[in-house]
Amino acid sequence: MGRVVVAGSINMDVVATAERHPRVGETVAGQSVMYFPGGKGANQAVAAAKLGVPTTLIGRLGRDAFGEQLRAFLAAHGIDLTAVKDSTGASTGTAIITLAKADNTIVVIAGANAEVGADDVAQVVLTPGDVAVSQFEIPQPTISAFFQRAKAAGATTILNPAPASAFDSALFALVDILVLNETELGFLAGIELGDAPTPQQVTDAVRELKPRPDQTVCVTLGARGAVAVTNGDAKLIEGRAVKAVDTTGAGDCFVGALAARLSQGAAMADAIGYANAAASISVQRMGAGPSMPSAEEVRAWL
Ligand code: RIB
Ligand code: NA
Repeated sequence: MGRVVVAGSINMDVVATAERHPRVGETVAGQSVMYFPGGKGANQAVAAAKLGVPTTLIGRLGRDAFGEQLRAFLAAHGIDLTAVKDSTGASTGTAIITLAKADNTIVVIAGANAEVGADDVAQVVLTPGDVAVSQFEIPQPTISAFFQRAKAAGATTILNPAPASAFDSALFALVDILVLNETELGFLAGIELGDAPTPQQVTDAVRELKPRPDQTVCVTLGARGAVAVTNGDAKLIEGRAVKAVDTTGAGDCFVGALAARLSQGAAMADAIGYANAAASISVQRMGAGPSMPSAEEVRAWL
């Protein structure tokens, strides 16, 4: 049994709810403002920890009230925070989210997350069986350093290239499993995928990324499930019909649960089905970090 080690962002999510999203230049009246622990890295770590897997987070917080609240929240989930350092000057990462009819828009301010560096990842010792996870809310050179260490240690690497951003082939070469949504896939493949791409369109777009035969590309399709492509072979994992109230962090739940299952020695197809079920629970609850399900909840739902 391995651990999940996440290098990534920690944010306070400031969430405004409204009947609909404002258009550019428009003001709409909202219903409430809420503060939820978030950040893709933290969300993925919480998802793994709540599923009962020993989890380490590498990150940075500001020395401010949000930083204190987030540290307490993550500690309460039993996450190893010895590699979460305080920034000397920057504020805690903050995401400004508008939520209307379960759909969100997000503006993220990196703050202390931009300071997560190669020194931070060098503090954590990885062993074979560990699963190393990262996303694009910390600097890419840090992710490369992290994955180099992970591969040298015999660990598995999962990259969630979100928010979508170009990255070079040297980083992709260090990735065992790429997990992304259809928007990010369209961006990276340079293909206009539209709203509801078919599994075949998804598989064709994955081919544009030119994965090695030993790499898996897993594309999450929201309520429609996920497509996993390994060595040209595509497998569709059906979505689960649920009533979503807040999809923020659903992708993070998927990534964290996938990492958790793989660290427990599950096969890829089993781990993806499990991640899919976990994510479909998270969308039925408000907030990102607080919406991650426990192992008992996923088991009951599978
Ligand atoms: O993936 C969802 C997350 O993206 C939110 O929690 C927000 O903090 C942004 O980082
Ligand atoms: Na949620």
